[in-house]
Amino acid sequence: VVAAGSGTRYGGPKQVDPLLGSTVVAHSVATARSVCDGVVVVVPASGSPVPIEADVIVPGGDSRSESVRCGLRALPVDVEIVLIHDAARPGASAAVFKAVEAAVHAGADGAVPALAVTDTLKSATLGSYGLEVAKTISRSDLYAIQTPQAFRRDVLEAAHAGGGDATDDAGLVEQSGGSVVVVEGERRALKLTEPEDLVMLQALLLGTEIDGRS
Ligand code: C5P
Repeated sequence: VVAAGSGTRYGGPKQVDPLLGSTVVAHSVATARSVCDGVVVVVPASGSPVPIEADVIVPGGDSRSESVRCGLRALPVDVEIVLIHDAARPGASAAVFKAVEAAVHAGADGAVPALAVTDTLKSATLGSYGLEVAKTISRSDLYAIQTPQAFRRDVLEAAHAGGGDATDDAGLVEQSGGSVVVVEGERRALKLTEPEDLVMLQALLLGTEIDGRS
């Protein structure tokens, strides 16, 4: 679980925000612990400002990919499948952790949760009147990718060996020729990016509890 970001766009470290009687990071770690044999949490170099229950806690790096590498170095030798999860996605359910793990267990190098893109997509560039639409992009085979992402440990370590940077781990695995499969993602796994995202997440999680679905 990577939780070493500074939350620049959020206006502070989002992982320590309160969430349904706990904190954002504690929610993410608790779900990971409910599924995985062990959990490594990557925290800011200054340490975690809130209590975290994990098997190993290590300081992170300047980028997300660097932080993932800090976590990988702390893995026990016998681990074969690794799940990487953004602490900033505390709504991700245990079912999705299990689904990505199952896909790798079945033979894929990696597996990611995805939601089909529903908005119309356009690219835009700066023109004489400000930002102007350049073109509309077909969304028919486009997906928004979430975490947790699962990988064969050897494939993930090889993908990270060059020290590359990407916005997710699957990006590095793809670049090194690995096969990454897509499983169904969930709206509740949204990444807390702007402060109002927490309000939406709380509504989604409370709605799920009321419906009796989890
Ligand atoms: O910044 P971004 O939205 O990509 O962050 C995704 C996740 O990566 C967050 O949970 C954040 O705490 C983590 N991260 C990290 N180390 C960094 C940057 C981000 O662990 N240097």
